[in-house]
Amino acid sequence: MITPLSPHTGAEVRGVDLTQPIDTALRVRLNAAFVDHSVLVFRDQRLSPQQLLAAVQLFGDVFPQHNTRFALPECPQIHYISNQDFHANGERYIPGEGYHTDHSNAVEPPKATVLHAVQLPDRGGDTQFVNMQRAYAGLPEATRDRIEPLRAVHVYQSRHSERKLMALSDTARAAVPDAVLHPLVRTHPESRRKSIYLNPIRIEGIVGMEERDALALLDELLTHATQPQYEYRHQWREGDMVMWDNRCLLHKANGDYDMAQVRYLYRIMLKGDAPK
Ligand SMILES: [Fe+2]
Repeated sequence: MITPLSPHTGAEVRGVDLTQPIDTALRVRLNAAFVDHSVLVFRDQRLSPQQLLAAVQLFGDVFPQHNTRFALPECPQIHYISNQDFHANGERYIPGEGYHTDHSNAVEPPKATVLHAVQLPDRGGDTQFVNMQRAYAGLPEATRDRIEPLRAVHVYQSRHSERKLMALSDTARAAVPDAVLHPLVRTHPESRRKSIYLNPIRIEGIVGMEERDALALLDELLTHATQPQYEYRHQWREGDMVMWDNRCLLHKANGDYDMAQVRYLYRIMLKGDAPK
């Protein structure tokens, strides 16, 4: 019922209908698989927003997402991801491009993000994941020692980010912290494995380090972590509900498909704890 999708990241879950009650034994098993595989792909689900909300709460409490302009009116804890939104200047907004981990500018960033495919393009639009535990383990020992004590400054949008986020309303902005510090190496609270905790969209610098040195180090770590051997690339199928672990993965969307076709997914996040 639970089948790995790559040697290190991702597992497919079949034979579970998330519209039906899930007993404790199965819930415990699914959570263990989530911690082991970092990405769970539930196939063949067709969930309404309310059903999706109930299903993800098997794994934790809902984390309030930042930009309320994307909230579903009928179920505001769920936001939508769509290729049919535009920046104020008329440029198309492709959410999630460029490797990142979600909402790391929160003091307690979400442990998991869940997407449920509602409408997909005929091809393309894959989500790529890289395993930051594997990437950490693959670093030279000297680099691991060097980054272990470092803390990074996370903000809503780093001035170094290549990707432009959608502007926040004043109310939403007021609810987002100005800057938080997180360790560059964090220990997963459930598996106790260490991983590199990077976020090129939101990291503004490293405490006590010159900007030039910090950017060079961050760049070196990102280049290392995004090598193909650490990647699982998810090709979406109709009915997929994908839940991933933000504590030990980076992910990115691909805007490589026909933009005349609609790509629309529900997104919901689960509360996590402060990285340590
Ligand atoms: Fe994301």
